[in-house]
Amino acid sequence: MNAGTEQKNGSGLLVYSSKTGNTKKLAEGIREGLAAALTGEEIRLATVEENPDPAGASWILLGFWADRGSADQKTLQYLKSLEGRRLGLFGTLGAYPDSAHARDISQKVKGLAAEKNTVLGCFLCQGKIDPALTERFKSLPADNPHAMTEERMKRHLEAAKHPDENDIKAAVSACLAMVKALPEGAT
Ligand SMILES: Cc1cc2nc3c(=O)[nH]c(=O)nc-3n(C[C@H](O)[C@H](O)[C@H](O)COP(=O)(O)O)c2cc1C
Repeated sequence: MNAGTEQKNGSGLLVYSSKTGNTKKLAEGIREGLAAALTGEEIRLATVEENPDPAGASWILLGFWADRGSADQKTLQYLKSLEGRRLGLFGTLGAYPDSAHARDISQKVKGLAAEKNTVLGCFLCQGKIDPALTERFKSLPADNPHAMTEERMKRHLEAAKHPDENDIKAAVSACLAMVKALPEGAT
């Protein structure tokens, strides 16, 4: 068989939303990792702004950035258009991925996705926080609930190192497990 005319076994769609590049970096890493592991499967990469048509995709991975305790608006908008899909989620956030805040976001977005789809899982990792937001926190009075504290500054500095190579590796293996999960009813 000639290269380029190779028969594809199936296809997946990887869609992401990213304001400052963290989720884009993660999505591109996931695509590369999945393409290497799932030879013969076509994987389409698109941004939510492109509003890709999911027709024909046997799975979808949707990537978001955390925005005020949920997924960002563009992701939520795109999510509304999905129905009856096998859908995996991944995202970046400023908080630690093992924090209660991250768990709340994961539960919330999974819950929204599950209203009309089969949810395959949700992977989260830290992503550097927009320096403008860090500066805004710094300018708040000490009695403001969002005021900068030593602990918060430590978290912002840690977030600044992510997503890194380890996050991408972890995301690839989590997403592989999601897309390989057997469809409901399969034995
Ligand atoms: C307006 C705004 C709201 C945010 N809200 C949250 C939040 O609720 N929880 C959180 O952990 N991180 C929050 N973050 C941090 C981002 O989710 C994080 O930096 C993410 O990696 C950005 O992804 P992107 O580079 O793909 O746009 C917020 C950032 C901004 C700019």
